[in-house]
Amino acid sequence: MTPATSLFTPVEADLQILADNLTQLVGNRHPILYAAAEHLFGAGGKRLRPAIVLLISRATMLEQDITPRHRRLAEITEMIHTASLVHDDVVDESNVRRGVPTVHSLFGNRIAVLAGDFLFAQSSWYLANLDNLDVVKLLSEVIMDLAAGEIQQGLNRFDTNLSTGTYLKKSYYKTASLIANSSKAAGLLSEVSPESAENLYNYGKHLGLAFQIVDDILDFTGSTDVLGKPAGSDLKSGNLTAPVLFALEEQPYLEVLIEREFAQAGDLDQALGLISDSQGIQRARELAAHHAKLAADHIATLESSESRQALINMTDYVLSRLF
Ligand code: IPE
Ligand code: IPE
Ligand code: MG
Ligand code: MG
Repeated sequence: MTPATSLFTPVEADLQILADNLTQLVGNRHPILYAAAEHLFGAGGKRLRPAIVLLISRATMLEQDITPRHRRLAEITEMIHTASLVHDDVVDESNVRRGVPTVHSLFGNRIAVLAGDFLFAQSSWYLANLDNLDVVKLLSEVIMDLAAGEIQQGLNRFDTNLSTGTYLKKSYYKTASLIANSSKAAGLLSEVSPESAENLYNYGKHLGLAFQIVDDILDFTGSTDVLGKPAGSDLKSGNLTAPVLFALEEQPYLEVLIEREFAQAGDLDQALGLISDSQGIQRARELAAHHAKLAADHIATLESSESRQALINMTDYVLSRLF
């Protein structure tokens, strides 16, 4: 599940420490919470977000070692991300995540919602203990954004009038906000200039958008085995993503199928056919590449280092997941 590990080389040892800490941080308050957390953190996942936080930490602390606060920020970032996945899987009714059964499929919806809440609350507590008000503000905004993004997505299901702009805004809330704000927070912990902090924010924002667009393409082109989560579910549940929005511009009948929520036999397959006969996937790839390039431009402003290079390479890695 780990991406081109060489990408993470400068922070490999840091990620090992992080992996050891994560389950421990959730604590042992209740066996079910502990089991849920251990289950998810144990299964791994790509650890992209903490890797980015650690790489930015190293790239902005060139003369010194990173601090325990940088490490804690990376852990908090993965915890917030994991909490959002636990809730997202309830909303999407997904049964597999990170190649293992989801929390709600093992323990039920009630426990999954509470376990997600608990992880959010626990991350807020560790966040407050960083004793840095600016960082607290950045990351608490992320938690609001995640909820706003899920709600917006829920309200826009099967709405073929959805604009690309609204789709990107939702993607910012659900995905890019966490990467953007944790990237900036890592810079603040290194006491970078306001201008550098803004560049780090924009790096994370555009990388996050590219990442979500690619994830949305993979939902059409990937397999459940490789993804470790169900493929082909966005369209079925009315979640209209970049490939569909572009395909709608070429295929008027797609609108009919979506508006009637695939009520008739064969509707979904026909819709998938129309999308694959269109430029939808290709244009979504171009949109992802556009954001990946913007991310690379923003991070290139940092002083040159091995970690900065890894952050630049990350913008290629995100796109390479498509091939
Ligand atoms: C999944 O994120 C949710 C999206 C933003 C698409 P990841 O693909 O990074 O999930 P893990 O952490 O590797 O499981
Ligand atoms: C991103 O959305 C998930 C979150 C940020 C919670 P998706 O719904 O596309 O994520 P997957 O595909 O289930 O991982
Ligand atoms: Mg989902
Ligand atoms: Mg997805």
